[in-house]
Amino acid sequence: MQVIKYVFQPHGDERGQLVALEEFKDIPFKIKRVYYMYDTATGVIRGFHAHKSLQQILICIHGSCKIRLDNGKEKKVVPLEKPYEGLYVSNNMWREMYDFSPDAVLMVLASELYDELDYIRSYEEFLEFVKNCRDTTIVEGAV
Ligand code: TYD
Repeated sequence: MQVIKYVFQPHGDERGQLVALEEFKDIPFKIKRVYYMYDTATGVIRGFHAHKSLQQILICIHGSCKIRLDNGKEKKVVPLEKPYEGLYVSNNMWREMYDFSPDAVLMVLASELYDELDYIRSYEEFLEFVKNCRDTTIVEGAV
């Protein structure tokens, strides 16, 4: 299972760091939605779903958390602890987010607007769905 972690280029100088993300340049899709999670209570696990077509990039812009990815065959845990790292999560991937530090801000860039019909919230349904999918999307040109 391929995990795609982008390392974005910070524009740093003596004033500090700045990261700029442009669709199709730094991000492999058109960004239609941005959302973020913060003040996550200790011990909480979020997610527990996959998507039929949504692609996302997860960036922990402050603090840290872990992402468990599951393509139906394999599972991988990816720690996110740098504001210049982005984890690409393709549609056909079960995800769980956990181990949030109290100061964690997890920002998500999404390829589609919010649509409850795009969610797969049953793990059994997810396993059926991935049986009929091609393998996990491979993104060319990850930086
Ligand atoms: P939810 O899907 O439960 O988040 P998680 O990724 O942890 O499963 O979303 C929490 C609430 O926020 C739910 O009422 C739906 C709403 N929501 C939106 O309105 N827009 C969005 O883009 C997202 C991601 C969630």
